[in-house]
Amino acid sequence: MNANLSFDPISQIETECLAIAVVDESSGSDPKPRLLTADTAVQQAAAELLASGEVTGRLFETVMVHRPNGLKARRLLLVGGGKHRNFSAYELRKVAGAAARFLKPKSIRRMTFAAPDAWDGTADQAAQSTTVAERRGLPEAVKAIVEGAYVADFDPDFYRSDRKDQHLDEVTVAVAGNPDRAALERALDEGRIIGESQNFTRELVNEPGNRMTPTILARRAGEMVQETAGRLNGARFGIEVLGGEKIRELKMGAFWSVAQGSDEPPALIVIRYEPEGASPAATVGLVGKGITFDTGGISIKPADGMEKMKYDMAGGAAMLGAVRAIAQLGLKVRVIALVCASENMPSGKAQKPGDVQIAMSGKSIEIINTDAEGRLVLADGLHYARQLGATHLVDAATLTGACVVALGGVNAGVFANNEEMFQRFAAALAFAGEKMWRMPLDEEYKEQIRSGIADIQNTGGRGAGAVTAAMFLKEFVDDAPWIHLDIAGTAWVDDNKAWIAKGPSGVAVRSLVEFVRGFEGS
Ligand code: BES
Ligand code: MN
Ligand code: ZN
Repeated sequence: MNANLSFDPISQIETECLAIAVVDESSGSDPKPRLLTADTAVQQAAAELLASGEVTGRLFETVMVHRPNGLKARRLLLVGGGKHRNFSAYELRKVAGAAARFLKPKSIRRMTFAAPDAWDGTADQAAQSTTVAERRGLPEAVKAIVEGAYVADFDPDFYRSDRKDQHLDEVTVAVAGNPDRAALERALDEGRIIGESQNFTRELVNEPGNRMTPTILARRAGEMVQETAGRLNGARFGIEVLGGEKIRELKMGAFWSVAQGSDEPPALIVIRYEPEGASPAATVGLVGKGITFDTGGISIKPADGMEKMKYDMAGGAAMLGAVRAIAQLGLKVRVIALVCASENMPSGKAQKPGDVQIAMSGKSIEIINTDAEGRLVLADGLHYARQLGATHLVDAATLTGACVVALGGVNAGVFANNEEMFQRFAAALAFAGEKMWRMPLDEEYKEQIRSGIADIQNTGGRGAGAVTAAMFLKEFVDDAPWIHLDIAGTAWVDDNKAWIAKGPSGVAVRSLVEFVRGFEGS
């Protein structure tokens, strides 16, 4: 898919389909639909439709007409944006996606989406953040539309012999008036790079366990780095993959305890991005859980639904997508991305409940449940990231079923041991249009992971499972400012939605990119 801009009068654009958002301006129950464009020709073309009552502006409502009067477009598609006062870039992104997914199965290959005029995104809570406020306005709208279209363009049915593989060829964002064209071109590029990177993550997560082993994940990461490095000016972008022997040599006893049960060799993927002129104050470490299949190990999972555990490397894949985007955007921040890739299998070599392992940091861990493996591989990943020079840490992991119970598929869980770090991340979330909800890390919870025989145990009993998992990780970040993302509930979309296909979501990629961008110049 391509993305481009048009500054022509909207009525004059020749396109297979012109899509426009319609919001509901009413406060009561009688809808008051309004087109989000000031173009009078378009308003006239849609006047009868709006008067008919068939268009309400309800979120994701789609109404399409052919040969609209007075327009050069072959079709006019009106997409509902919901209540106007709630309409922000968060909705705009999804509305553009809904338009793309409406057209995709109809063999319509090109879409022109009209950027809302006089965009200020007032309803958006992000408006409260000053760093974000500077970047508001039309560029934000253009970026959101392009991101939404790329995300919508992804379908997961890679292995169907009759896969239609219908992609949009082109999305054009139509901008009226006399805008700052260079700023909009930049926003368009950003939207494309970030959207493509999110889809790169989704491709990796979509692959089943037999086609996405740690070795294959490392190879895919290597190909991504190769492709990207060739296009960078003046930045170093390199990858190193450590195998089982090296993992043992580094005394990563927690990581190895998970890997030892599998015939598939593990991989510790280390990617370094070092741009020229990076701020010296920060090196951001992005550490991802890369369990390419989680059977539970000896504490084996029930058969029902186990197939979904191919997604247990979604945190690692998110870090790969994020560092891809960060490098392509040329952000002036040093980043170390680290993916702890392994299978979690039962076997004669597998670790057992009751085993004691010594992590790279020297802490001893009593294994209560071999299914709590994500925190084990991350414990050594986080410690190693510090050793490699990361000053600020973020990890992402499909870590706990408890987080799914607590927050469902709407919000990911976010944990922070540092207020400034959390504020930075909250600003990034708002700008990226992703939802995460802060969870606590009170010292009182630590009691639940106290062991009778070792420094710490790997499960925390009945209550607060997402929190005790996070408390476990906290033991391994030392004093570094740290954010932990539990994406177990949000990395997989359970049903088809208007704007996104059922399957891997690519959650966290956009927020991680905006978070790292926040360190530029600091
Ligand atoms: N990958 C799972 C987390 C998970 C479980 C995601 C269910 C989605 C649905 C993780 O490795 C795991 O198995 N966690 C255990 C921890 C428990 C043994 C303390 C869980 O949440 O059940
Ligand atoms: Mn598990
Ligand atoms: Zn797992």
